[in-house]
Amino acid sequence: LDNGLARTPPMGWLNWERYRCNTDCKNDPANCISADLFLEMAKLMKYEGYADVGYEYVNIDDCWMERERGADGKLVPNPELFPEGIAALADAIHSMGLKIGIYEDYGTKTCGGYPGTKDHIEDDVNLFASWGIDSLKLDGCYCNTSEFSTGYPAVTKALNATGRPILYSCSWPAYLHDKDKVPYGDIAENCNLWRNYADIQDSWDSVQNIINWFGDNHGDLASYAGPGNWNDPDMLIIGDYGLSFEQSQTQMAMWAMMAAPLYMSNDLRTLRQWQKDILMNQEVIAVDQDPLGKQGLRVFQDPKKHYEYWTRELADGTYAVVMYRRDTSGLPRSYTATFAQLKIDAKSAYVRDLFRHMDLGVYTDQITATLPPSGSCKMFKVTPIKEEF
Ligand code: DGJ
Repeated sequence: LDNGLARTPPMGWLNWERYRCNTDCKNDPANCISADLFLEMAKLMKYEGYADVGYEYVNIDDCWMERERGADGKLVPNPELFPEGIAALADAIHSMGLKIGIYEDYGTKTCGGYPGTKDHIEDDVNLFASWGIDSLKLDGCYCNTSEFSTGYPAVTKALNATGRPILYSCSWPAYLHDKDKVPYGDIAENCNLWRNYADIQDSWDSVQNIINWFGDNHGDLASYAGPGNWNDPDMLIIGDYGLSFEQSQTQMAMWAMMAAPLYMSNDLRTLRQWQKDILMNQEVIAVDQDPLGKQGLRVFQDPKKHYEYWTRELADGTYAVVMYRRDTSGLPRSYTATFAQLKIDAKSAYVRDLFRHMDLGVYTDQITATLPPSGSCKMFKVTPIKEEF
Protein backbone atom coordinates (compact mmCIF):
# COMPACT_ATOMS: atom_id res chain seq x y z
CA LEU A 1 0.00 0.00 0.00
CA ASP A 2 1.51 3.24 -1.12
CA ASN A 3 0.59 5.47 1.82
CA GLY A 4 4.12 6.50 2.73
CA LEU A 5 4.24 4.07 5.67
CA ALA A 6 6.24 0.90 6.27
CA ARG A 7 8.95 1.75 3.75
CA THR A 8 10.86 -0.92 5.69
CA PRO A 9 9.11 -3.67 7.69
CA PRO A 10 7.49 -2.26 10.84
CA MET A 11 8.96 -3.19 14.23
CA GLY A 12 7.38 -3.23 17.64
CA TRP A 13 5.45 -5.35 20.08
CA LEU A 14 2.08 -7.08 19.80
CA ASN A 15 0.37 -8.74 22.71
CA TRP A 16 -1.43 -11.65 21.07
CA GLU A 17 0.91 -14.64 21.10
CA ARG A 18 2.04 -14.17 24.68
CA TYR A 19 -1.03 -12.67 26.37
CA ARG A 20 -3.93 -13.81 24.15
CA CYS A 21 -7.34 -12.81 25.40
CA ASN A 22 -6.38 -12.51 29.07
CA THR A 23 -8.88 -9.95 30.37
CA ASP A 24 -8.82 -11.27 33.94
CA CYS A 25 -7.24 -8.31 35.70
CA LYS A 26 -8.77 -9.36 39.04
CA ASN A 27 -6.87 -12.61 39.30
CA ASP A 28 -3.96 -11.89 37.00
CA PRO A 29 -3.31 -8.16 37.13
CA ALA A 30 0.28 -8.39 35.92
CA ASN A 31 -0.57 -10.29 32.75
CA CYS A 32 -4.01 -9.14 31.71
CA ILE A 33 -4.13 -7.00 28.55
CA SER A 34 -4.64 -3.70 30.33
CA ALA A 35 -3.40 -0.17 29.65
CA ASP A 36 -0.81 -0.85 32.35
CA LEU A 37 0.62 -3.81 30.43
CA PHE A 38 0.95 -1.80 27.22
CA LEU A 39 2.49 1.11 29.11
CA GLU A 40 4.98 -1.12 30.85
CA MET A 41 6.02 -2.66 27.55
CA ALA A 42 6.29 0.79 25.98
CA LYS A 43 8.53 1.96 28.82
CA LEU A 44 10.77 -1.07 28.51
CA MET A 45 10.93 -0.58 24.76
CA LYS A 46 12.08 2.96 25.33
CA TYR A 47 14.40 2.54 28.30
CA GLU A 48 15.99 -0.82 27.57
CA GLY A 49 17.15 0.11 24.09
CA TYR A 50 14.58 -1.59 21.85
CA ALA A 51 13.33 1.73 20.51
CA ASP A 52 16.90 2.77 19.71
CA VAL A 53 17.30 -0.18 17.35
CA GLY A 54 13.95 0.37 15.63
CA TYR A 55 11.12 -1.17 17.67
CA GLU A 56 8.39 1.43 17.51
CA TYR A 57 4.78 0.17 17.50
CA VAL A 58 2.99 -0.99 20.65
CA ASN A 59 0.07 -3.01 19.35
CA ILE A 60 -3.15 -4.07 21.02
CA ASP A 61 -4.74 -7.26 19.67
CA ASP A 62 -8.20 -8.81 20.15
CA CYS A 63 -10.39 -8.57 23.29
CA TRP A 64 -9.78 -4.91 24.11
CA MET A 65 -13.43 -3.89 23.86
CA GLU A 66 -16.79 -4.36 25.48
CA ARG A 67 -18.97 -7.20 24.17
CA GLU A 68 -21.47 -4.74 22.66
CA ARG A 69 -21.22 -1.38 20.95
CA GLY A 70 -22.41 1.65 22.90
CA ALA A 71 -25.89 3.17 22.44
CA ASP A 72 -24.34 5.56 19.90
CA GLY A 73 -23.05 2.60 17.88
CA LYS A 74 -19.42 3.24 18.81
CA LEU A 75 -16.94 0.64 19.95
CA VAL A 76 -16.30 0.86 23.69
CA PRO A 77 -12.95 -0.04 25.26
CA ASN A 78 -13.36 -2.43 28.19
CA PRO A 79 -13.28 -0.03 31.17
CA GLU A 80 -11.61 -2.56 33.43
CA LEU A 81 -8.71 -2.85 31.01
CA PHE A 82 -8.57 0.75 29.84
CA PRO A 83 -10.10 2.88 32.61
CA GLU A 84 -8.97 6.10 30.95
CA GLY A 85 -9.80 4.99 27.43
CA ILE A 86 -7.55 4.31 24.48
CA ALA A 87 -6.89 7.96 23.58
CA ALA A 88 -5.18 8.48 26.94
CA LEU A 89 -3.04 5.40 26.38
CA ALA A 90 -2.20 6.63 22.89
CA ASP A 91 -1.10 9.98 24.33
CA ALA A 92 1.13 8.30 26.87
CA ILE A 93 2.69 6.07 24.23
CA HIS A 94 3.19 9.00 21.86
CA SER A 95 4.85 11.00 24.60
CA MET A 96 7.50 8.28 24.74
CA GLY A 97 8.13 8.75 21.04
CA LEU A 98 6.40 5.45 20.18
CA LYS A 99 3.34 4.53 18.15
CA ILE A 100 0.19 2.62 19.01
CA GLY A 101 -1.70 -0.02 17.06
CA ILE A 102 -5.17 -1.46 17.50
CA TYR A 103 -7.12 -4.50 16.28
CA GLU A 104 -10.47 -5.03 14.60
CA ASP A 105 -12.03 -7.67 12.39
CA TYR A 106 -13.68 -7.28 9.03
CA GLY A 107 -16.55 -9.62 9.97
CA THR A 108 -19.54 -9.31 12.26
CA LYS A 109 -17.38 -10.29 15.23
CA THR A 110 -13.69 -10.50 16.09
CA CYS A 111 -12.27 -14.01 16.51
CA GLY A 112 -12.72 -13.54 20.26
CA GLY A 113 -16.41 -12.67 19.80
CA TYR A 114 -16.25 -8.88 20.21
CA PRO A 115 -18.03 -6.51 17.80
CA GLY A 116 -16.60 -6.62 14.26
CA THR A 117 -16.41 -3.66 11.94
CA LYS A 118 -18.87 -4.92 9.33
CA ASP A 119 -21.36 -2.15 8.49
CA HIS A 120 -19.42 0.30 10.71
CA ILE A 121 -16.21 0.72 8.78
CA GLU A 122 -16.08 4.48 8.48
CA ASP A 123 -17.27 5.15 12.01
CA ASP A 124 -14.78 2.72 13.51
CA VAL A 125 -11.85 3.96 11.47
CA ASN A 126 -12.70 7.57 12.29
CA LEU A 127 -12.91 6.67 15.96
CA PHE A 128 -9.45 5.06 15.81
CA ALA A 129 -8.05 8.14 14.08
CA SER A 130 -9.64 10.40 16.71
CA TRP A 131 -7.91 8.36 19.42
CA GLY A 132 -4.54 8.86 17.71
CA ILE A 133 -4.12 5.29 16.50
CA ASP A 134 -1.13 4.70 14.19
CA SER A 135 -1.74 1.14 13.00
CA LEU A 136 -4.72 -1.14 12.44
CA LYS A 137 -4.63 -4.93 12.28
CA LEU A 138 -7.78 -6.16 10.55
CA ASP A 139 -8.60 -9.80 11.20
CA GLY A 140 -10.89 -12.03 9.12
CA CYS A 141 -13.12 -14.07 11.45
CA TYR A 142 -16.90 -14.23 11.17
CA CYS A 143 -17.16 -13.25 7.55
CA ASN A 144 -17.48 -14.72 4.14
CA THR A 145 -14.04 -14.72 2.53
CA SER A 146 -15.65 -13.87 -0.79
CA GLU A 147 -16.27 -10.40 0.66
CA PHE A 148 -12.57 -9.79 1.35
CA SER A 149 -11.82 -8.36 -2.07
CA THR A 150 -14.27 -5.52 -1.49
CA GLY A 151 -14.12 -5.38 2.33
CA TYR A 152 -10.40 -4.97 2.92
CA PRO A 153 -10.09 -2.22 0.27
CA ALA A 154 -13.12 -0.42 1.75
CA VAL A 155 -11.14 -0.12 4.97
CA THR A 156 -8.08 1.10 3.02
CA LYS A 157 -10.25 3.86 1.60
CA ALA A 158 -11.68 4.80 4.99
CA LEU A 159 -8.21 4.88 6.55
CA ASN A 160 -6.95 7.08 3.77
CA ALA A 161 -9.92 9.42 4.18
CA THR A 162 -9.08 10.08 7.85
CA GLY A 163 -6.00 12.03 6.77
CA ARG A 164 -4.06 10.35 9.58
CA PRO A 165 -1.20 8.05 8.57
CA ILE A 166 -2.37 4.64 9.78
CA LEU A 167 -0.41 1.52 8.94
CA TYR A 168 -2.70 -1.21 7.67
CA SER A 169 -2.09 -4.87 8.52
CA CYS A 170 -4.46 -7.29 6.81
CA SER A 171 -5.24 -10.92 7.56
CA TRP A 172 -6.77 -11.29 4.09
CA PRO A 173 -4.54 -14.11 2.69
CA ALA A 174 -4.38 -16.03 5.96
CA TYR A 175 -8.05 -16.99 5.67
CA LEU A 176 -8.02 -18.00 2.01
CA HIS A 177 -7.78 -21.74 1.63
CA ASP A 178 -6.48 -22.11 -1.88
CA LYS A 179 -3.11 -20.55 -1.13
CA ASP A 180 -2.04 -20.51 -4.74
CA LYS A 181 -5.00 -18.35 -5.75
CA VAL A 182 -4.51 -15.51 -3.30
CA PRO A 183 -4.88 -12.13 -5.07
CA TYR A 184 -1.55 -10.82 -3.84
CA GLY A 185 -1.56 -7.96 -6.34
CA ASP A 186 -4.76 -6.53 -4.83
CA ILE A 187 -3.57 -7.25 -1.32
CA ALA A 188 -0.28 -5.43 -1.87
CA GLU A 189 -2.14 -2.49 -3.35
CA ASN A 190 -4.40 -2.20 -0.30
CA CYS A 191 -2.35 -3.31 2.70
CA ASN A 192 1.05 -2.44 4.17
CA LEU A 193 1.45 -5.95 5.51
CA TRP A 194 -0.51 -9.11 5.40
CA ARG A 195 -0.58 -12.27 7.43
CA ASN A 196 -0.14 -15.12 4.96
CA TYR A 197 -0.33 -18.19 7.06
CA ALA A 198 -1.15 -19.89 10.37
CA ASP A 199 -0.85 -18.16 13.74
CA ILE A 200 2.48 -18.60 15.45
CA GLN A 201 2.46 -20.56 18.72
CA ASP A 202 5.07 -20.80 21.46
CA SER A 203 7.07 -23.68 20.03
CA TRP A 204 9.94 -24.46 17.72
CA ASP A 205 7.58 -26.68 15.71
CA SER A 206 5.47 -23.69 14.93
CA VAL A 207 8.41 -21.49 13.91
CA GLN A 208 9.87 -24.27 11.79
CA ASN A 209 6.56 -24.90 10.07
CA ILE A 210 6.25 -21.21 9.18
CA ILE A 211 9.79 -21.08 7.79
CA ASN A 212 9.06 -24.16 5.67
CA TRP A 213 5.90 -22.64 4.34
CA PHE A 214 7.63 -19.43 3.32
CA GLY A 215 10.55 -21.42 1.93
CA ASP A 216 8.10 -23.18 -0.36
CA ASN A 217 7.04 -19.67 -1.41
CA HIS A 218 3.42 -20.38 -2.21
CA GLY A 219 2.09 -18.31 -5.07
CA ASP A 220 5.39 -16.49 -5.51
CA LEU A 221 4.56 -14.29 -2.57
CA ALA A 222 8.10 -12.87 -2.25
CA SER A 223 7.65 -10.93 -5.45
CA TYR A 224 4.99 -8.77 -3.77
CA ALA A 225 7.26 -7.63 -0.95
CA GLY A 226 8.94 -4.23 -1.11
CA PRO A 227 8.77 -0.77 0.45
CA GLY A 228 5.20 -0.28 1.72
CA ASN A 229 4.29 -3.97 1.29
CA TRP A 230 5.35 -6.89 3.44
CA ASN A 231 4.50 -10.54 3.89
CA ASP A 232 3.96 -11.22 7.57
CA PRO A 233 4.99 -14.61 8.99
CA ASP A 234 3.63 -13.46 12.39
CA MET A 235 5.20 -12.43 15.70
CA LEU A 236 8.65 -13.05 17.17
CA ILE A 237 8.38 -15.41 20.14
CA ILE A 238 11.98 -14.93 21.29
CA GLY A 239 11.88 -14.48 25.07
CA ASP A 240 8.94 -16.84 25.57
CA TYR A 241 9.08 -20.52 26.54
CA GLY A 242 9.43 -22.40 23.28
CA LEU A 243 12.83 -21.62 21.77
CA SER A 244 16.40 -22.56 22.66
CA PHE A 245 19.27 -20.11 22.16
CA GLU A 246 20.01 -21.47 18.68
CA GLN A 247 16.34 -21.57 17.68
CA SER A 248 15.90 -17.98 18.86
CA GLN A 249 18.76 -16.90 16.63
CA THR A 250 17.18 -18.79 13.78
CA GLN A 251 13.81 -17.10 14.20
CA MET A 252 15.49 -13.70 14.23
CA ALA A 253 17.69 -14.55 11.24
CA MET A 254 14.89 -16.01 9.16
CA TRP A 255 12.45 -13.19 9.88
CA ALA A 256 15.17 -10.79 8.72
CA MET A 257 15.73 -12.86 5.57
CA MET A 258 11.99 -12.77 4.88
CA ALA A 259 11.86 -8.96 5.29
CA ALA A 260 9.22 -9.63 7.93
CA PRO A 261 7.62 -7.20 10.34
CA LEU A 262 9.43 -7.64 13.66
CA TYR A 263 6.68 -7.62 16.27
CA MET A 264 7.82 -9.19 19.52
CA SER A 265 5.17 -10.96 21.57
CA ASN A 266 6.91 -11.60 24.85
CA ASP A 267 7.26 -10.31 28.38
CA LEU A 268 9.90 -7.62 28.16
CA ARG A 269 9.98 -7.58 31.98
CA THR A 270 11.55 -11.01 32.19
CA LEU A 271 13.85 -11.39 29.19
CA ARG A 272 17.30 -12.84 29.72
CA GLN A 273 20.29 -10.98 28.42
CA TRP A 274 20.89 -13.44 25.56
CA GLN A 275 17.30 -13.01 24.42
CA LYS A 276 17.66 -9.23 24.43
CA ASP A 277 20.92 -9.52 22.53
CA ILE A 278 19.25 -11.54 19.79
CA LEU A 279 16.24 -9.22 19.56
CA MET A 280 18.48 -6.15 19.47
CA ASN A 281 21.16 -7.53 17.13
CA GLN A 282 21.63 -4.50 14.94
CA GLU A 283 23.41 -6.34 12.16
CA VAL A 284 20.51 -8.74 11.77
CA ILE A 285 17.96 -5.93 12.10
CA ALA A 286 19.81 -4.06 9.34
CA VAL A 287 19.18 -7.02 7.04
CA ASP A 288 15.49 -6.98 7.90
CA GLN A 289 15.35 -3.23 7.36
CA ASP A 290 17.40 -3.19 4.18
CA PRO A 291 16.05 -0.35 2.00
CA LEU A 292 15.91 -2.43 -1.18
CA GLY A 293 13.13 -4.40 0.51
CA LYS A 294 13.78 -7.54 -1.48
CA GLN A 295 12.56 -10.61 0.36
CA GLY A 296 15.07 -13.44 0.69
CA LEU A 297 14.48 -16.90 -0.74
CA ARG A 298 15.37 -20.45 0.11
CA VAL A 299 17.91 -21.13 -2.61
CA PHE A 300 19.00 -24.63 -1.67
CA GLN A 301 17.59 -27.54 0.29
CA ASP A 302 19.18 -30.97 0.61
CA PRO A 303 16.99 -33.86 -0.62
CA LYS A 304 16.26 -35.09 2.92
CA LYS A 305 15.38 -31.56 4.02
CA HIS A 306 17.91 -31.72 6.80
CA TYR A 307 19.44 -28.37 5.98
CA GLU A 308 18.84 -25.46 3.68
CA TYR A 309 20.36 -22.17 2.58
CA TRP A 310 18.70 -18.81 2.09
CA THR A 311 19.97 -15.72 0.30
CA ARG A 312 18.72 -12.16 0.39
CA GLU A 313 19.98 -9.45 -1.93
CA LEU A 314 20.77 -6.18 -0.17
CA ALA A 315 20.74 -2.60 -1.39
CA ASP A 316 24.53 -2.15 -1.31
CA GLY A 317 25.21 -5.06 -3.66
CA THR A 318 26.00 -7.50 -0.85
CA TYR A 319 24.02 -10.53 0.28
CA ALA A 320 22.67 -11.86 3.53
CA VAL A 321 23.00 -15.63 3.74
CA VAL A 322 21.58 -18.10 6.22
CA MET A 323 22.72 -21.70 6.53
CA TYR A 324 20.03 -23.44 8.56
CA ARG A 325 20.04 -27.00 9.90
CA ARG A 326 16.77 -28.75 10.73
CA ASP A 327 17.47 -32.39 11.52
CA THR A 328 17.69 -33.62 15.10
CA SER A 329 20.52 -36.11 14.88
CA GLY A 330 22.94 -35.44 17.69
CA LEU A 331 26.30 -33.93 16.99
CA PRO A 332 27.29 -30.70 15.31
CA ARG A 333 28.32 -31.26 11.70
CA SER A 334 30.11 -29.30 9.05
CA TYR A 335 28.17 -27.94 6.04
CA THR A 336 29.39 -26.35 2.85
CA ALA A 337 27.39 -23.87 0.82
CA THR A 338 28.88 -23.15 -2.57
CA PHE A 339 28.40 -19.68 -4.00
CA ALA A 340 26.56 -21.38 -6.87
CA GLN A 341 24.10 -22.94 -4.40
CA LEU A 342 23.71 -19.55 -2.75
CA LYS A 343 23.06 -17.94 -6.15
CA ILE A 344 25.91 -15.54 -5.59
CA ASP A 345 27.82 -14.80 -8.73
CA ALA A 346 31.34 -14.35 -7.39
CA LYS A 347 34.60 -16.19 -7.13
CA SER A 348 35.57 -14.76 -3.76
CA ALA A 349 33.86 -12.71 -1.13
CA TYR A 350 34.37 -11.20 2.29
CA VAL A 351 32.24 -13.03 4.83
CA ARG A 352 31.05 -11.62 8.14
CA ASP A 353 29.23 -13.56 10.86
CA LEU A 354 26.23 -11.47 11.98
CA PHE A 355 25.72 -13.22 15.32
CA ARG A 356 29.37 -13.33 16.34
CA HIS A 357 29.92 -9.83 14.91
CA MET A 358 33.14 -11.00 13.33
CA ASP A 359 34.77 -10.70 9.94
CA LEU A 360 35.76 -14.19 8.91
CA GLY A 361 37.97 -13.15 5.99
CA VAL A 362 37.92 -13.92 2.30
CA TYR A 363 36.20 -17.11 1.13
CA THR A 364 36.59 -18.56 -2.33
CA ASP A 365 33.77 -20.46 -4.08
CA GLN A 366 32.09 -21.60 -0.87
CA ILE A 367 31.38 -21.11 2.83
CA THR A 368 31.84 -23.92 5.32
CA ALA A 369 30.26 -23.76 8.75
CA THR A 370 29.58 -26.05 11.69
CA LEU A 371 25.95 -26.29 12.73
CA PRO A 372 24.51 -28.08 15.73
CA PRO A 373 21.21 -29.98 15.19
CA SER A 374 17.61 -28.96 15.90
CA GLY A 375 17.15 -25.62 14.27
CA SER A 376 20.44 -23.76 14.46
CA CYS A 377 21.77 -21.39 11.85
CA LYS A 378 24.65 -19.22 10.81
CA MET A 379 23.94 -15.85 9.32
CA PHE A 380 26.47 -14.11 7.14
CA LYS A 381 26.89 -10.95 5.21
CA VAL A 382 28.65 -11.78 1.96
CA THR A 383 30.41 -9.04 0.04
CA PRO A 384 31.55 -10.23 -3.40
CA ILE A 385 35.03 -9.15 -4.42
CA LYS A 386 35.05 -7.73 -7.92
CA GLU A 387 37.59 -9.45 -10.11
CA GLU A 388 40.20 -7.16 -11.59
CA PHE A 389 41.56 -7.85 -15.03
C1 DGJ B 1 -6.39 -14.65 14.66
C2 DGJ B 1 -5.13 -13.88 14.32
O1 DGJ B 1 -4.44 -14.53 13.29
C3 DGJ B 1 -4.27 -13.74 15.57
O2 DGJ B 1 -3.06 -13.11 15.26
C4 DGJ B 1 -5.04 -12.98 16.61
O3 DGJ B 1 -5.27 -11.66 16.15
C5 DGJ B 1 -6.36 -13.68 16.92
N1 DGJ B 1 -7.10 -13.96 15.71
C6 DGJ B 1 -7.21 -12.85 17.85
O4 DGJ B 1 -8.45 -13.39 18.08
